[in-house]
Amino acid sequence: MTAWVIGNWKLNPTSLLEVKTLAQQLVQNVYQAKLDDVQLMVAPSFVHLSAVQSELSHQEDTEPAILLASQDVSAMSADIGAYTGEVSANQLVDMDVDWVIVGHSERRQYFDEDNDLLLQKIRNAQAKELGVIFCIGESEADYQAEITEKVLAEQLQVIYSVFEQTSSDIKLIIAYEPVWAIGTGRVPSTSDVDSVHKFIRQQLANMDAKLQDVPIIYGGSVKPDNAKAFSSLPSVNGVLVGGAALDADSFLAIAQSFVE
Ligand code: PGA
Repeated sequence: MTAWVIGNWKLNPTSLLEVKTLAQQLVQNVYQAKLDDVQLMVAPSFVHLSAVQSELSHQEDTEPAILLASQDVSAMSADIGAYTGEVSANQLVDMDVDWVIVGHSERRQYFDEDNDLLLQKIRNAQAKELGVIFCIGESEADYQAEITEKVLAEQLQVIYSVFEQTSSDIKLIIAYEPVWAIGTGRVPSTSDVDSVHKFIRQQLANMDAKLQDVPIIYGGSVKPDNAKAFSSLPSVNGVLVGGAALDADSFLAIAQSFVE
């Protein structure tokens, strides 16, 4: 199975020059890294999509080693409309964006994104055939209260709703990101990650047979020195990387951990 290594650049870096340099370094080094069966993807901020797309267009192969994702998509409209500040799925497709991140914990936390809104975002992405990287994860308090599975099951209701109302296929990746592990340097034990991934796999299987092969990736303080611990788990089909994705060498080193 292909492993997915996805860089979420969040609100980084500061300048267009830095963005172009990072994208260039990735394109230059990705082939010699020989990342067989590893699919890379980067998610720059909206304003940098075009510049990154232009760098990624210099990739040698027709099958791109590095795909382009956005960090969000409008829930308001999949096309055009009077929605100041929004970016639609259609506009993203026009920018050669392949995937969108939906439901990152920072969006849930700082922008109060709830299941209804996330469902609308997924529908809009789906309407334009964009892949969806759907993030779920428990807070520190949930973890302490040992209600991780209950929280994840509630968050996965969105996926259930998508499938209840459509018979069409959807390109989907589930990213399990414990909120307390994001940007903190703390990571759950591999046995915890393994059991949570198996729980998510079971939930998906109960929803729809089509979800059987959906990749489930881990995110939260993934670094070159701990990536192998995750890649060695058959239940982990890749990683979503924040901080360590801002350095080409460390991002490619993480990807290297997933080469079998
Ligand atoms: P981090 O972020 O790797 O910096 O912890 C991960 C994420 O938020 O996707």
